[in-house]
Amino acid sequence: MSGCPSTAIVKSTSPAVTMSGCPFAAIVKATAPAVAPKVREIVDDFYPRMFSNSPEAKAFFNPANQFKEPPLQRMALANAVVAYATSIDDLSKLTGALEIIAHKHCGLGVKPRHYSIVHQNLMESIGHVMGDAVTPEVGEGWSEAVLALAKNLCELEAKLYAESAGRRGGWKGVKDFRVAGTRRVATDCVELTFKPVDGAGPIDFTPGQFLTLHLHKQGSTPRHYTVTNAPGKDYLQCCPKLVEGGFVSSALHGMKEGDVVGVSAPFGTFKLSGRPAVLCSAGVGATPMKCFLDSAPEQVKFVLHIDRDEAAHPFRKEMEASSAGTHFHYTDAGGRPEAAALVEGALKPYLAECDFFLCGPPPFLADMSAALKAAGARSIHLDVFGPALAQPN
Ligand SMILES: Cc1cc2nc3c(=O)[nH]c(=O)nc-3n(C[C@H](O)[C@H](O)[C@H](O)COP(=O)(O)OP(=O)(O)OC[C@H]3O[C@@H](n4cnc5c(N)ncnc54)[C@H](O)[C@@H]3O)c2cc1C
Ligand code: HEM
Repeated sequence: MSGCPSTAIVKSTSPAVTMSGCPFAAIVKATAPAVAPKVREIVDDFYPRMFSNSPEAKAFFNPANQFKEPPLQRMALANAVVAYATSIDDLSKLTGALEIIAHKHCGLGVKPRHYSIVHQNLMESIGHVMGDAVTPEVGEGWSEAVLALAKNLCELEAKLYAESAGRRGGWKGVKDFRVAGTRRVATDCVELTFKPVDGAGPIDFTPGQFLTLHLHKQGSTPRHYTVTNAPGKDYLQCCPKLVEGGFVSSALHGMKEGDVVGVSAPFGTFKLSGRPAVLCSAGVGATPMKCFLDSAPEQVKFVLHIDRDEAAHPFRKEMEASSAGTHFHYTDAGGRPEAAALVEGALKPYLAECDFFLCGPPPFLADMSAALKAAGARSIHLDVFGPALAQPN
């Protein structure tokens, strides 16, 4: 394997480069068509195997993304494996996806040692599902490829951890914050204010990023929540919507001033582009828009929001108070709007000049981005409140 970018996270120190020309790249490329139809079976075998072999790894994973139909996290990993195998000659195509994965991993606190656990269990699953098709040579090829991918992610994550710790008010790992205030901003939504127990601050981050909450509660796994305040304050705010049967959102809605939670520094790739912006949200998708309005009001030209009714609309007052134009659509009174009609009726004047920032439930994101693309929007950015890579590209 000499000359390849990496063989083992622990063995190699060579920098991440393209895999083209490596023996393992050729093996992975040649066997990708056989593995692709089996990838869901491999992933379905992998997670239970890893959870039973390693409680340490299990503690990262939200059961809802594993066991609720559709199992979004499994779909995201399956898509990532197929995309990697088919793009192994030119990994530049995967840059955006790797960034998304690395930011999520950093919020969760994934460390290089965890990659060995993933590698070992994934290889066992590939062997188990593919059976005799995995000759020693094929097994070695896939093993090297997974290790090379892990090395890429580890390097990206080391960079992100260092950047976030180096920012004003930044920190590494999970730090304790105290609830300093709670404010109901809609029927099902409460904005929580967290201040660092160590008194450090102000805290910088990029507007649009999420903090990751690690509750000090038996059986809890981490959850991401968009930061709703502007950077540079001595606190961080987020706004969880109460989800029926939801473990973390229910706990957060029961929190009182003085309660302590663990918080990872903000990470995430959703951010303003610096060009004029139109914000389009539905439901609790209003959270990044609130942060953008607080942080860069001059960039925001128009705000579109869809909700059940006025009372369910988070941050309505903040949206109304901005100098941007607004269009609010309430489905209890007006029915479900057609995305194309919203674009035609409210967003058309902004198509040439503005970038579009969308956040809301998956059908809203799919319909609005399709309608915006069809109308000629040049730049559309999506924030997904779940495994973003669950949908194939
Ligand atoms: C980048 C990002 C930003 C986000 N920002 C926000 C935000 O600003 N505000 C916000 O409210 N949310 C946000 N989210 C979503 C948030 O992280 C949580 O997913 C959400 O709060 C639900 O978490 P929960 O613990 O309450 O529910 P969970 O416990 O995760 O449950 C979710 C649903 O799955 C069901 N479920 C749970 N376990 C199982 C099982 N084993 N089998 C079948 N069904 C099951 C539950 O009944 C519930 O209906 C964001 C997510 C991401 C990725
Ligand atoms: C080569 C190795 C790995 C690959 C290819 C990979 C891939 C992915 C992908 C595609 C996602 C979904 C991102 C999204 O759609 O938003 C994800 C999320 C995640 N990854 Fe990894 N990952 C790897 C290693 C690890 C390791 C070592 C851990 C820790 C044990 C880990 C834990 C997680 C968790 C907990 C999530 C979020 C799941 C959730 O929403 O509950 N991953 N990863």
